[in-house]
Amino acid sequence: MRTQVCIIGGGPSGLLLAQLLHNDGIDSVVLEKRDRAHVLARIRAGVLEQGSVELLRRAGVGARMDREGFVHAGTFLAAANRGFRIDFEARVGKSVMVYGQTEVTQDLYDARDAAGGTVIDRADRVTPWGLDSKAPAVTYLRDGREHRVTCDFVVGCDGFHGVSRTCIPPDVLREFERVYPFGWLGVLSETPPVAEELIYANHPRGFALCSMRNAGLSRYYLQVPLSEPVDAWSDHAFWDELKRRIPEDAADRLVTGPAVEKSIAPLRSYVAEPMRWGRLFLVGDAAHIVPPTGAKGLNLAFSDVHYLHEGLAAHYRDGSDAALGSYSDRALARVWKCERFSWSMTQMLHRFPDQTPFDQRMQESELAWLETSVAAQTALAENYVGLPY
Ligand code: APR
Ligand code: PHB
Repeated sequence: MRTQVCIIGGGPSGLLLAQLLHNDGIDSVVLEKRDRAHVLARIRAGVLEQGSVELLRRAGVGARMDREGFVHAGTFLAAANRGFRIDFEARVGKSVMVYGQTEVTQDLYDARDAAGGTVIDRADRVTPWGLDSKAPAVTYLRDGREHRVTCDFVVGCDGFHGVSRTCIPPDVLREFERVYPFGWLGVLSETPPVAEELIYANHPRGFALCSMRNAGLSRYYLQVPLSEPVDAWSDHAFWDELKRRIPEDAADRLVTGPAVEKSIAPLRSYVAEPMRWGRLFLVGDAAHIVPPTGAKGLNLAFSDVHYLHEGLAAHYRDGSDAALGSYSDRALARVWKCERFSWSMTQMLHRFPDQTPFDQRMQESELAWLETSVAAQTALAENYVGLPY
């Protein structure tokens, strides 16, 4: 099979890039390792920056998001049983859209199907070849037979555990990493959200987050030690602990119910440089991971997609490779700013095992400053709604 752009990974990054390329008349093939049902069952964060919202609309996949998503003009932070609100609209004149990543991925699959796009699932042993030549190719196994896709460019949208990043020679690839000494225990429950906006809570027992998907579906998280298996948390234990960590008025209002999904995710900050090698481009989780405090993972993947789409469009439209040449630098400039924000939110809101009384006071005073300073609130709001592309 021959295509212009071979995209490895059919998560949100790969599908959005394929859709944007299709709109410009550029042909692509998406190779996804898992079956579609598995990809569509994954539960991830649910906050879209304004830039992500606009990109989805531009790609022609924003209709259901605009109908069913919730615009949030602010968020609550809580500490020491007191909450305060950061008003995004008042501080920076922008808002975010609460709409689950699972829904975004579904909308992207629907759009690819409607356009007759080629998305091959259950593609096993996907292997790129000739990435430093002018004629790269990607081979894969499906139903026991080997297939080969020849192309102009290969794009690695295959997440943190994908194959693409491993193709960059070790003497070229630089990796930067911080692994956090705790995880997030997430619960999805068919109950009304406890508040109209999100609540990020710093508590001596650990961080807690109240989020939502819609009026009847809530998403909650607790900071937990990674040594505890998810089975150690009964629904009852989860709700009990959540009530302890959020402000009393919210705990009193909280409606509990059976967990329809419960899982523990580790927290990591990670960046790989460069994001281009020869004819290979890395996008999204394949190149970088942020801890979920601040909900930047998907949004950061989408800004990569935006830069790469511009580069590929210029290549095929006017034969100019300037934007492709600057892809890695442009993407990384924004990646590092979002890494900094996600790291600082994580640092400010979690309990660390080695936290000293001094560190504790630093956290408290940072939150106290945020509560009273318009400048501090503006800085948080600017990052939360999304830095410009
Ligand atoms: N071959 C083909 N596909 C692969 C391979 C491989 N070797 N390895 C992984 N994949 C697929 C995965 O099954 C997954 O569907 O690549 C896809 C990567 O998707 P994501 O991990 O969702 O990454 P990405 O599309 O970059 O999305 C950005 O933002 O909120 C964060 O982590 C969250 O998924 C989110 C991400
Ligand atoms: C979520 O709704 O799953 C969510 C929201 C905000 C975050 C992380 C996760 O910062």
